[in-house]
Amino acid sequence: MTQDTLNPTQHFIVIGNPIAHSKSPAIHQLFASQSGLTISYQRQYCPDDAQSFQAVVEAFFNGGGVGANVTVPFKQVAYAQCQAQGSLSEHAKVAGAVNTILIKDSALYGDNTDGQGLVNHMIRLGWPLTDARVAIIGAGGAARGVILPLIEAGIGALTLANRTESRAQDLASELSAASSVINNHKITSCETSKLTGDFDLIINATSIGLTGDTLPLCADLTSGYVYDMMYGRELPFLQHFVARGAQVSNGFGMLIGQAALSFERWTGHTVDVDGATTALQASAN
Ligand code: ATR
Repeated sequence: MTQDTLNPTQHFIVIGNPIAHSKSPAIHQLFASQSGLTISYQRQYCPDDAQSFQAVVEAFFNGGGVGANVTVPFKQVAYAQCQAQGSLSEHAKVAGAVNTILIKDSALYGDNTDGQGLVNHMIRLGWPLTDARVAIIGAGGAARGVILPLIEAGIGALTLANRTESRAQDLASELSAASSVINNHKITSCETSKLTGDFDLIINATSIGLTGDTLPLCADLTSGYVYDMMYGRELPFLQHFVARGAQVSNGFGMLIGQAALSFERWTGHTVDVDGATTALQASAN
């Protein structure tokens, strides 16, 4: 038996548009070297339409691919494809989005590791989540994906704040209908500019950093811990809370956390997330 049959290369891709900036290949290669696996992990550009996306996924898995990550703008399209051709995890169902695809029982299986990746990062940081009074700012896809994992982690009262308050109300009702775990939880909503007082944890799940605007935060809005889900953008949001004594984090650890969960689902190997984070931070500097 040759070395290749003992340890064949496993193939992975991340599909997105744009995709050239993706750090996923470097992250997964690091996990693979930690685990002693030989992998190929490629960025896969795809035209922005559902048919092209479906064709890419089918060709990849028909060709023996082991796992695909999915990023903007295809997470909802991936959800629809896995729902139609295979099955979905509970987290993917509630998020309405898929970031991780694998083959299970000879069919596509869609999972979503984004929200759990965020929660795992906060746990690694030592942030207290049990009974925490939490506010999430934003009511789009990023907020939707994190609500179930946060409730499963044991948080207390949850407030959804959004520029358009009706979207926050709609999200709360939709998720309560989709999940009994969420339905049993107290969720209130308000407009972002009216979010006031002290919280244990505030999470920015808006896409505001992409627009260059800043969120209208009340001067008396404070929190012990504050997380910005977006990595690599200007941080006036975090500065507001640093000035008021909070511990803060951006989304770099979440990026590694969601990748680690995908890698573990695909390969069965456990990732040393702290070791990988240190190595990736060192290589980024
Ligand atoms: P995603 O899937 O990345 O969450 P989305 O569904 O477009 O993207 O949602 C973007 C979120 O960022 C929404 O909560 C949006 O607020 P609205 O629902 O009021 O649109 C919020 N957002 C985007 N740009 C914003 C801005 N300039 N000010 C405040 N909130 C903003």
